[in-house]
Amino acid sequence: MRRMMSIFGWVLLLFFCCPLPGRTATIFLDELDTRYMLQDWGTPQVNKSVLGGAFRVAGVDYARGIGTHSISRLLIDLEGKATSFSGWVGADDLNDFSGDMEFELIADEVLVWTSGVIRKGVPARPFAIDLRGVRKLALLVKEGGDGIMYDHADWLDARFETTGRIIPEQSVPVKIDVAKYILTPLPPAQPRINGPKVLGVRPGNPVLFAIPATGERPVRFSAEHLPEGLTLDPASGVIRGIIREAGAYNVAIRVENSKGSDVRILRIEAGDRICLTPPMGWNSWNCWGLKVDEQKVNDAADLMGRKLIQHGWSYINIDDGWEAAQRSVGGMLNGNAKFPDFRRLCGSIHDKGLKFGIYSSPGPRTCGGHLGSYGYEVKDAATWADWGVDYLKYDYCYYSQIAPVPTEELIKRPYTLMRQALDSVKRDIVYCVGFGAPNVWNWGREAGGNQWRTTRDITDEWNVVTAIGFFQDVCASAVSPGHYNDPDMLVVGRLGQGWGDKVHDSRLTADEQYTHVSLWCLQSAPLLIGCDMSEIDDFTMNLLTNDEVIAVDQDPLAMPARKLVKPEGQVWYKYLEDGSIAIGLFNVDPYFILWDKSRGESIQREKTSMTLVFSDLGLKGKYRVRDLWRQQDLGTFDGSYSTSVPYHGVQLIRLMPEK
Ligand code: GAL
Repeated sequence: MRRMMSIFGWVLLLFFCCPLPGRTATIFLDELDTRYMLQDWGTPQVNKSVLGGAFRVAGVDYARGIGTHSISRLLIDLEGKATSFSGWVGADDLNDFSGDMEFELIADEVLVWTSGVIRKGVPARPFAIDLRGVRKLALLVKEGGDGIMYDHADWLDARFETTGRIIPEQSVPVKIDVAKYILTPLPPAQPRINGPKVLGVRPGNPVLFAIPATGERPVRFSAEHLPEGLTLDPASGVIRGIIREAGAYNVAIRVENSKGSDVRILRIEAGDRICLTPPMGWNSWNCWGLKVDEQKVNDAADLMGRKLIQHGWSYINIDDGWEAAQRSVGGMLNGNAKFPDFRRLCGSIHDKGLKFGIYSSPGPRTCGGHLGSYGYEVKDAATWADWGVDYLKYDYCYYSQIAPVPTEELIKRPYTLMRQALDSVKRDIVYCVGFGAPNVWNWGREAGGNQWRTTRDITDEWNVVTAIGFFQDVCASAVSPGHYNDPDMLVVGRLGQGWGDKVHDSRLTADEQYTHVSLWCLQSAPLLIGCDMSEIDDFTMNLLTNDEVIAVDQDPLAMPARKLVKPEGQVWYKYLEDGSIAIGLFNVDPYFILWDKSRGESIQREKTSMTLVFSDLGLKGKYRVRDLWRQQDLGTFDGSYSTSVPYHGVQLIRLMPEK
C-alpha cells in the first residue's frame, strides 16, 4: 500500500513539475523538492514559515510558498524553457526578534531582482521576472547587514510558468577525498616563547599565567622586573600571586635549555582591563553536550597541560550539564553527581597552570533545562569565585519567561546584573555574553562582556561554518583588546553530532578546517576547541599548534578584520602590532550561491589562482611575504602577489613592508 502511495506521489510530482510537451504550465515553488534548498538555520518548510507556523507577513496571511532562513540558496535548472517566475517575499511575523535580510534572484549568474533589505513588519514585496532564455536561476536570501540571526524568510505564492521541467540542483557538495595533509612544521628544539605578549589583571585578584614556550624539555624559565607579589616557578614557567599596585610592568621573560634560549617582553597591565588577547581554550559542548562529566574535563585538562599549554592554550571550560537538580538550603547551586567537587576539580586544573570556565543562564533554567542563575546572581558569582572559576559563559535561555516581549534594553539587563555580581568577587573572570542576541556586538561591551556570541550554534558543516565565519564583517568593528566577537567553537577533531552523541571526525575537509582556523584567527575570535580531548590526531594537532597562526589571533592590537570580496573568493586581512599585515586568501564561492556545485566535481579538485593587489588593501611598495601555515618565506613582491588556493581552502600569509 505504501509503495502504491509513493508511486502515486511520484506520478503526481511529475505531473506538476513536467508539463505536457509544448504546453505552458504553472509550477509552484513549494512543489519542488525542498531538500535541495540549503539554509543556515532550521530546514525549509513547505507552506509554513521556518518555525512551522502559517505564513504571515506584516499581518497579512499567505497560503503557500517556502519558509526558509538566511543564508538560503536554491539553484534551479530551468532547461531554458521557463517564461516567468513571480510571487512575493517577506520576513515572517513569527519571530521573537527581527533580523535584516535581502532576497535576490540571479539568472545565469546575473542579478535580475532584489527585494532590498527588509525585516519583520515590512509588507511583503512582489516580484515578477522574465525567464526566457535563462538556463539556471538561483534563489538567494542574504543576510541584510546584521548577520544571519533571526532572518525568517518567506518565498510566498511563488510560481513558474514553463513548457519544460523545473529541476532543483543538488546542494549537497561532492565529498572531496583529500587526505588530511599537515602543513605545520614541528617546533624547533631551541626554546621559543609563544602566546600573548600582554596580560591584563586586576590589582588585588589572583594572577595565574603559564608562559607558553616550546623547545626540548627540560627548559628553565626566569624573569626580570616581575612586579611585586608575583612569583615564577622556574621549572613549569607558571606565574602566580597577587599584584597590589596598579601599573604597567614590562617583564623580561627568559627560557633556556641545552640547545639555546629565547627572551621576550611580557607586558603585565594591572588595572581595570582583563582578557587583553582573545581567550584560548576548550569547551565541552560541541563534543559532549549535556553528557559532559568530570573524566572528560580531566582528559581535556590533561591533554592541554601536556601538549597545548606551550602554545598559549589555557581555559578548560565546562558548558551546560554540570548543575545539581536543586539548590541547597542556603541557595547554593552545586554540581550534580557527575561533578562531586568543583573546588577539587578547579584546583587540579590550576595546578597544571590552566584556568577553569563555567556556564550558566540568566533565566530560571539553562538552555539544556538545568537550573539557571535567575535571582541568585550574587550567590552564584560568589560560589564560582570560591571554587576558583576564571571564565563564565552566560547564555540566555528561559530568560524569555522573565522578558516575554524582549527589547534590547530587556535582553541587556540580566547581563549587566551578572557583570555587577562578578565585579563583587575578588577574581578576574572572563565574561562571555553567551547568546547570539540581535546586534549583541552593539551592546555586549556596555553590558560588561569580554566577548559575545554573534551567531547560532556552530556545527561541523561547511555551509554553517561559512555562514558564521564569512559574515563576521558585520560586527568586526566591535573588536578591541578585551572585547571580542565570539563566532562559537572550533569544529575540528572528533565532535559529537547533535551535541553529545555519535562522536565522529569533523565533517569539514582538511582545507575547510584550515579555512575555519585561519578565519577565526584573522577575526581575533576566542579560540575554543570543541573536540574530544582524549584523542587528537596529528592533523588536528597541526591546526592547533601553529604558533605563527596563533600569533595572528593573539596580536595585542586586536584590530578589526576587513573583508574584500573578489570574483575568485574572499580576502580577509588584519593589521598587526609590528606593522605587518595578516591576510587570508580564501577560495570560496564569494557569494555562497552554489554556482560552484553546478559546475561539477572537476572544479572542486582544482586550485583557483588568486591575486592580491596590494593597492586594493591601500598598500604601496614591496612586501616580504610569509606563508604562515608552512612557516616559510615566499619572497619579496612588488605591487601584487599571486598564488593558487585549494577548493574551500586558504593561503594565510603575512606581509612585512620591505624597508
Ligand atoms: C545554547 C548555546 C550552546 C550551549 C547550549 C547549552 O544556547 O548556544 O553553545 O551552551 O545552549 O545548553
